[in-house]
Amino acid sequence: MKKYKNHIAEIIARAAGIGAEKIEPFIETPPSEEMGDLAFPCFTVARHLRKSPQTIAQELLNKITPQDPIERIEADGAYLNFSLRHASLIADVISEVSEFSDDYGKRDTGKGKTVVVEYSSPNIAKPFGIGHLRSTVIGAALKRIFLHLGYDVVSINHVGDWGTQFGKLLYAYKRWGDESRLQADPVEHLYDLYVKIHQEEEKNKDIADASRAEFRKLEDGDSESLKLWKSFSDLSKREFAQIYRMLGVEFDSDDGESFYIDKIPETEKILRDSGLLSESREATIVDLEKFDMPPMLIRKSDDTTLYATRDLAAAIYRKRKYDFHKMIYVVGVAQSLYFRQLFKVLELMGFSWAADCHHVGFGWVKLGDEMMSTRRGNIVFLEDVIAKTIERTRKIIEENKMDLPDPDRVAVDVGIGAVIFADLAYKRDSDISFDWDKMLDFKGYSGPYLQYSHARICSVLRKYGKDIPGRCDPELLRLPEEYQIAKKLAIYPDILIKAADDFEPQFISSFLLELCGLFNTYYQRYRSPEDRILSSDGGTARSRVTLTNCVRIVLHSGLKLLGLSAPEMM
Ligand code: ARG
Repeated sequence: MKKYKNHIAEIIARAAGIGAEKIEPFIETPPSEEMGDLAFPCFTVARHLRKSPQTIAQELLNKITPQDPIERIEADGAYLNFSLRHASLIADVISEVSEFSDDYGKRDTGKGKTVVVEYSSPNIAKPFGIGHLRSTVIGAALKRIFLHLGYDVVSINHVGDWGTQFGKLLYAYKRWGDESRLQADPVEHLYDLYVKIHQEEEKNKDIADASRAEFRKLEDGDSESLKLWKSFSDLSKREFAQIYRMLGVEFDSDDGESFYIDKIPETEKILRDSGLLSESREATIVDLEKFDMPPMLIRKSDDTTLYATRDLAAAIYRKRKYDFHKMIYVVGVAQSLYFRQLFKVLELMGFSWAADCHHVGFGWVKLGDEMMSTRRGNIVFLEDVIAKTIERTRKIIEENKMDLPDPDRVAVDVGIGAVIFADLAYKRDSDISFDWDKMLDFKGYSGPYLQYSHARICSVLRKYGKDIPGRCDPELLRLPEEYQIAKKLAIYPDILIKAADDFEPQFISSFLLELCGLFNTYYQRYRSPEDRILSSDGGTARSRVTLTNCVRIVLHSGLKLLGLSAPEMM
């Protein structure tokens, strides 16, 4: 639609004698179809032209003669409404989508700019949480969207592999650890130790002191402690890698918190030189009272570093290494205040690029009752949730007697697609709940619904049996659904840009749901043989198949950007 917006902006600009850049940003889609395809609200230039918006609309109307691709112009109060010639829009969209295929909507908006996307960031020696899953899914989608728009992307998994909890863990492992259990099921064993030490600590205050001493030793580089810590870290990372493989997610770097330890002295020097450090109850802090925020702790009274200290060092390191245009942190909204503090301290340290750092927050994920039943002890393991989802998908395939060459593959693709889509179906900041019936509803607001629509389209195209042309006679596409579909396809590139600007993959999810909704109505509408997609009229069938193929291309592209696979048969 961007192209048409530009075109209309230029015509208005010429008629009104103002720059097109003052017009274009205000051109919008009217609330109902009868009002046309695009509208310009004349009050946006009323002050500049010193006339009432209604007068401007009338005057512009008289001055502009509609020319292809514009069919009709109408003044409606303060608005000037434009209707496009259907055949022009349809022909344009079809040739563009067919030509660019999966690259449709690719831009070079991001050329020469680097975006650092930090996501997932689970904590070692702890189970991969359902919140880390949401971060992983949103972050990976944003990475693909930025790449599509021509940005250079650096993806980072800021693994939680340092901190006082490792003092506890080292202490617990030395006392109660079991090498063979550690090797067999590291995350579960380490988590058990973690739970145990918390219980013991309550009873015995000395244990807390001993754990703190262990962490001190680790920070001071004690080799035996480091060796154990390294094995916890390697074993955990190996388990996480399995989850990433299933989700099809990769990182350019998995330098976790520990990577920044040797960079902290420099960070502290900058803090000190900027006069930001003060003492409070023997700890070193940055006071943020002036900014209505609690202080940021830099060093504890026992001289060990903190999460925040490591984040400051990481941000400085990354700016130097990648010279990013933007850096985003995909982390739950529970840490919103923390990130405001972090960015404020970076700003106070004199780094103007602090303004390029963004916290991309997301809401809580609740598990439905059925899912909670996969608990092992007190905790739900993500692997179990994924495995169960795949199993259920497999059952649905069997119950519906879907005749598939490779049902296991489809069960995996659709099961994982369901999990991924559940994380992306709603706006980031909303809380969501995981519920199998909803996630696996092939007719509803779900990943399987999109995948199923894709497979159905592939089946129509297979049935057509002939080569699908990249162009067609648009005059043969006169059904209202056909125009609606073409218009939807035309806005896809705009949707991608919006998704990148707002760090919001959900724009793509809802776009795809709407596109499939339109297509499925189109598919089901036929009443007579001429009416169906594979119409008894050869020319019409050819044109409809061409449009259908464009829907397939865009759906495939969108699913890929979100991280879902697009099976051709379901
Ligand atoms: N590991 C942290 C957690 O599980 C998330 C890390 C977020 N990233 C950061 N740079 N602080 O809560």
